[in-house]
Amino acid sequence: MTPDMPLTVLGLESSCDDTAAAIIRHAPPDRAEILSNVVLGQTDLHAAFGGVVPELAARAHAEKLDLAVEAALEQAGLTLRGVDAIAVTAGPGLIGGVLSGVMLAKGLAAATGLPMIGVNHLAGHALTPRLTDGVAFPYLMLLVSGGHCQFLIAHAPDRFTRLGGTIDDAPGEAFDKTAKLLALPQPGGPSVQTQAAQGTAARFVLPRPLLDRDDCNMSFSGLKTAVLRTRDSLIAEHGGLRARDRADLCASFQQAVADVLVAKSRRALAQYKALCPAMPVFAVAGGVAANTVLRAGLEGLARDMGVQFIAPPLALCTDNAAMIAWAGLERLRMGARDDMTLAARPRWPLDESAAPMLGSGKKGAKA
Ligand code: KG4
Ligand code: ZN
Repeated sequence: MTPDMPLTVLGLESSCDDTAAAIIRHAPPDRAEILSNVVLGQTDLHAAFGGVVPELAARAHAEKLDLAVEAALEQAGLTLRGVDAIAVTAGPGLIGGVLSGVMLAKGLAAATGLPMIGVNHLAGHALTPRLTDGVAFPYLMLLVSGGHCQFLIAHAPDRFTRLGGTIDDAPGEAFDKTAKLLALPQPGGPSVQTQAAQGTAARFVLPRPLLDRDDCNMSFSGLKTAVLRTRDSLIAEHGGLRARDRADLCASFQQAVADVLVAKSRRALAQYKALCPAMPVFAVAGGVAANTVLRAGLEGLARDMGVQFIAPPLALCTDNAAMIAWAGLERLRMGARDDMTLAARPRWPLDESAAPMLGSGKKGAKA
């Protein structure tokens, strides 16, 4: 496989609660083309349990992955004969789901003789700005979702420096828990944002942990406890939660999350800029990047610091297989490939040299 030959890659993703398959084609020097991007979500399956149930997720992946692959091939107008390689998420994530994907990729590779490559799910998110915008290395990435929260400098398809991240909950998890505490529908992010738009953020003073520490680490678990306490005292005072109180509490919570992420992004950007990149870029990914208040804060910060801000379209910010196909393609071009010994890994830090963090998202402990 030469570095710039045209390549068509099938990607598989099943590390959490989305069963996904996608096909991308890349003929340098053109930008890669997404031929299909199929995501079969499992929200209804887990709705009654208030979180992802790993065994149910794994079974659903095993049942639906081949259907997702068939749909991705059909939408792309291809058969497996038109594919050059198979990329699959090999971790980190819920192990039953990751195994479903790895086993299917091995089966397809054995049956077709196609090369196969295992991809780190976080690398998939982190490399997305190269798929969507052709961003050059090195760039700074903020991953913010229900399961991830970390700053990464991307140096190469297989080389990342982790500057810091959450030491407990992911921000999306905090949004979801806050929504639950205030009896708002899941997923919590959009419903909290809608309420917050009608509220006053200055009404309640909620904690902004770790801002006094001169690093890029964050903590969000104390915030939900503060929301719980404030809610309870409002209920005790008024005999119930009034609409205005709920909206103000949502606005105060959302502002606290955005303030922490913007303040820590300022530090991360300073560390990144010290590398003197020719065209400095700050990119975000993950479902929480959809938050309008957060996005405006990050955009403003990037403008102040003379850095280009990039937020890929939401469908490519949240879990999908196009990002896995792209991350696999980038590594295939570097000559990497895996064989039948490819293992599924529940934990797989992108930056093996960074101190381990026990961030546990609602969707299971990630890297
Ligand atoms: O990336 P994603 O789809 O899945 C993973 O967690 O991997 O992110 C989902 C998370 C949920 O926690 C959801 O509440 C949050 O992203 N989210 C938001 C918004 N839209 C989705 N959080 C804040 N504001 C939003 N507008
Ligand atoms: Zn993800």
